Amino acid sequence: MATIGLIGAGHIGSQIARLAVANGYNVVLSNSRGPQTLSALVKELGAKARAGTALEAAKAGDIVVVTIPLKSYRQVPVEPLAGKVVIDTNNYYPERDGHIPELDSESTTTSELLQAHLPKSKVVKAFNHIYAAELTTHGQPAGSKDRRALVIAGDDKVAKKTVTHLLDRFGFDTVDAGPLKEGWRIQRDTPGYGPRRTAEELRRDLAAARRYADR
Ligand SMILES: NC(=O)c1ccc[n+]([C@@H]2O[C@H](COP(=O)([O-])OP(=O)(O)OC[C@H]3O[C@@H](n4cnc5c(N)ncnc54)[C@H](OP(=O)(O)O)[C@@H]3O)[C@@H](O)[C@H]2O)c1
Repeated sequence: MATIGLIGAGHIGSQIARLAVANGYNVVLSNSRGPQTLSALVKELGAKARAGTALEAAKAGDIVVVTIPLKSYRQVPVEPLAGKVVIDTNNYYPERDGHIPELDSESTTTSELLQAHLPKSKVVKAFNHIYAAELTTHGQPAGSKDRRALVIAGDDKVAKKTVTHLLDRFGFDTVDAGPLKEGWRIQRDTPGYGPRRTAEELRRDLAAARRYADR
């Protein structure tokens, strides 16, 4: 079974790790303070989980999830992620991340920044608009009535298929917003950011999203 590497093991990283282990994946967790600080989570997750450095998680993962405060994205290891699907959960909060002029001007998007940092990786934006706690409580089997959907965006079609499959296993439908540059449609303060939505509702939300400058 594939291994999911996690760079970041906080609210979102720990929840994705729980979903991954529950669905048979191995996980390698990492954070900024070092593997020894993750022993309680590793114990909870059991034999399919181990902790390592961010470099080790990047090397070990067939798929790697970057789920850290956006301000730290340049610390993500580059070379071990070459050629890999990298899932980006990150959002921009200036009060936490400091001001990033190209995001303030909306001339780029958060996931395009990560893609520029990881030029040989296939970055897919996902999991950015669901509260961490809901990841393990809102999933339902495929075909369930009113199943919750999550948005993805990415420039690589095959990588998006991989992430769609992962989301389906985790209990969610997928709505493809298009290339990474369309990821702004699900950034904070857009209609789809936060609430539980079906695929049909999310498509409407994406279409209704407005740039900050146009509000
Ligand atoms: N919380 C939510 O409901 C939610 C929902 C959707 C998206 N998001 C977004 O997803 C990202 C993660 O959110 P979160 O709530 O999970 O944050 P969090 O609880 O603060 O966890 C952040 C994690 O990143 C680790 N980290 C920080 N810098 C790192 C580095 N340079 N290398 C490796 N690991 C590093 C932290 O490790 P240490 O603790 O050791 O510093 C921690 O494990 C954010 O961009 C957030 O906006 C959050």
